[in-house]
Amino acid sequence: MLLQEYVSLKEFNTFGVKAQARYYVRIHDEQLLQHSLRSLSPKLLPRLILGGGSNVLFINNFEGIVMHMVIGKIAIVRENKDHVWVKAGAGVNWHTLVQYCVQHGYAGIENLALIPGTVGAAPVQNIGAYGVELSDVFESLEALEIDSGKIHTFDAVACAFGYRNSLFKNQLRGQYIILNVTLKLGKKPTFRIDYGAVAGTLEAMGIQALSIKAISDAVIHLRQRKLPNPTHLGNAGSFFKNPVVTQAQFKKLQAQLPHIPGYQQSEGQVKVPAAWLIEQCGWKGKRHDKVGVYDQHALVLVNYGGSTGQEIYQFSQVIQRSVKDRFGITLIPEVQIIG
Ligand code: FAD
Ligand code: EPU
Repeated sequence: MLLQEYVSLKEFNTFGVKAQARYYVRIHDEQLLQHSLRSLSPKLLPRLILGGGSNVLFINNFEGIVMHMVIGKIAIVRENKDHVWVKAGAGVNWHTLVQYCVQHGYAGIENLALIPGTVGAAPVQNIGAYGVELSDVFESLEALEIDSGKIHTFDAVACAFGYRNSLFKNQLRGQYIILNVTLKLGKKPTFRIDYGAVAGTLEAMGIQALSIKAISDAVIHLRQRKLPNPTHLGNAGSFFKNPVVTQAQFKKLQAQLPHIPGYQQSEGQVKVPAAWLIEQCGWKGKRHDKVGVYDQHALVLVNYGGSTGQEIYQFSQVIQRSVKDRFGITLIPEVQIIG
C-alpha cells in the first residue's frame, strides 16, 4: 500500500484550491481498500472518499486520510432482448461510461453526458441533467461499510434518492465507500428531449433523425456553451441547489415578481432556479478579487486563479445572504464543504 503524507490536493479538486491531505492513498482495487482500512485504523482519523473532486470545496487542509478512488472497470453483467445491465467501478470517469454506452447503443444516460467526476460519486447526489437523473436507470450499487469492512448491496429504494440527494449524502455520509454501480439501460431507446434547451439545440444543430448519439452530442454542445471547463477556470458546477418552495410561497413571490420562473414538481411544490434569484440580486459576472460568479451562468462560482477555499466559501455566504434578504429563500449548497 502506498500511503503518502502531506499530499497536495490542488490537482484533485476542480475548484483548483490549495489544500493538503495529512495522509493520502490511491485505491486501485477492493483488496487494497480492505487492506488500507485494516492497517490505517480509520476510526481514529477523519477520512474522505475522493473521486474527481468536482463537487467538493476544501476550506482547510484535511487532517485525516484521503482515499482517492480509482477502481476502474466497465462490464456487462446481464442482458435480455430489451435491456442491458452495465456495471462500472467507482473510479471510472462518468463521461467515459456515457461514451461507452452511447457507442454500444445502450440508452438511458446520454442526457448525462459530460458531467465531470466518477461513477462512484454519481449516486451520492443522484446526478442529474437535462431531464434525467441517475435514479432513472439505477439498478444497484455495492458499498463497503467502513467500520465493519462488510460489503452491502443497495437498490434504488435503499439509496433514498431525491433531487441532488441520497442516503450517502445524509444519514450514511462518510460511512460507506461505494465500490461499483450497476445501471439498467435500454436497447430500445426512449428519447428524452422535453427539457426545452435539448430540443432547441438538436434543431439548431440540424439533426433530424433522433438517436442517443445525437442527444449526447446536443447535451455536450449545450454544456460547453453554458458551463466553464474546470481545466481552464476552477469551478464545481452549480454551487447551490435549486430551492423547492410550496405552491403558496411561489404564488406570493409571483405576486411581487411576475416573471419569476418556476417548475412544477410532484406534491404541489415548485422548483425555482437559483441562478435567476442570484442574477436578480445583481451577482452575475461580479468578481471579487480572485473569486466570482461566472458571467455566462449565475449559479456557478469560479476561481479566477489563486483563490482559497475560504474565500470562495465566504463569497458564497454573501450571495446566500443577499438572496435570503431579497426573496426570503435560503439557498443550500450543492457542493460539499470539506474542512
Ligand atoms: P467528488 O467531488 O470527489 O466527491 C463528491 C462527494 O461524493 C464527496 O462527499 C465524496 O466523499 C463522495 N464520494 C465520492 N466518491 C465516493 C465513493 N466511491 N463512495 C462514497 N462516497 C464518495 N452534477 C450534477 O448532478 N449535474 C450536472 O449537470 C453537473 N454539472 C457539473 C458541471 C461542472 C463543470 C462541474 C465541475 C460539476 C458538475 N456537477 C454536476 C457536479 C459533479 O460533477 C457531480 O456531483 C459528480 O458526481 C461528482 O463526482 P466526483 O467524482 O468529482 O465526486
Ligand atoms: N437562469 C438565469 N440566469 C443564469 C442562468 C440561468 O436566470 O445565468 C435561469 C433561467 O430562467 C433558466 C433557469 O435559470 O431557464 C435554469 O437554468 P439552467 O437550464 O442552466 O439550469 P440550472 O437550474 O441552473 C440545473 C442543474 C445543473 C444541470 C442543468 C441542466 C441544479 C442545481 N443544477 O441547472 O447541474 O446541468 O440544470 O439540467 O439543479 C450541477 O448540479 O452542478 C449542475 C451543473
